[in-house]
Amino acid sequence: MSQLLFEHIHEALQFIRTQTDFQPRYGIILGTGLSGLAEEIEPVAEIDYKDIPHFPVSTVQSHKGKLVFGKLGGQPVVAMAGRFHYYEGYSAQQITFPVRVLKYLGIERLIISNAAGSTNANIEAGDIVFIRDHINLQPENPLRGPNDERLGPRFPDMKYTYDRALNAKGLEIARRHGIRAHEGVYLGLQGPNLETPAEYNFFHIIGADLVGMSTVPEVLVARHMELPLLVMSVATNKCYPIEEIRETTVEEVIAVAQSAEPKMRQIVMGLLEEIL
Ligand code: HPA
Repeated sequence: MSQLLFEHIHEALQFIRTQTDFQPRYGIILGTGLSGLAEEIEPVAEIDYKDIPHFPVSTVQSHKGKLVFGKLGGQPVVAMAGRFHYYEGYSAQQITFPVRVLKYLGIERLIISNAAGSTNANIEAGDIVFIRDHINLQPENPLRGPNDERLGPRFPDMKYTYDRALNAKGLEIARRHGIRAHEGVYLGLQGPNLETPAEYNFFHIIGADLVGMSTVPEVLVARHMELPLLVMSVATNKCYPIEEIRETTVEEVIAVAQSAEPKMRQIVMGLLEEIL
């Protein structure tokens, strides 16, 4: 099985290399409502997921499904316009397959974005949050099963998963642009339902600042392969304190994420131009 994963990564890689020899330094995963950043990229090549061997195909509204190669903020990047979620029915290993392929394409760092609910009274809808740690409550783990030592260790350590110094630089860029931003803990759930008030309260109590349905599998796989990462969330709905919870639709989540997308764009561009 793991042998097969290694072969599949290389088949995907070989196909991509028939399409472009562009060498990205950074990979970017664009989350719900946040795919606008892809339009800032001066595209050198675009590859539909459906053409890449072993790539899953995105089913969610607002998610496109292609890799976009080109320059962003003066840096060579590859963006995933469209990501995969466990609730769509894929295995955790399928969701994270593209991250493995990006690593083998030679990226030096992965930037992950997502939309999430806020379980911290100080984090308002529309705020940006740099993730400093996570709590994994998803039921499946992409590293489960036989481990291929060529990809990474059996028992990856998680202490230095998130780069606090890079978060500090991101916060500094946000401050300079007058953007409300925080550092926080992301709690990953399988979804697809949003949470009950009692659940939001519980997640607040156990230390979560944000809750969402993505990101943790990709982070685990990036960590497995020693791929440095940065995670930025857009808080799309306030879920704490309980009195502030409102009924929320996916359309509202997407609308808030889209309206915060220019802030995300400014920060990512700033990081690429100045720091990375
Ligand atoms: N819960 C889980 N995932 C989410 C939420 C939420 O409230 N908002 C955006 N993604």
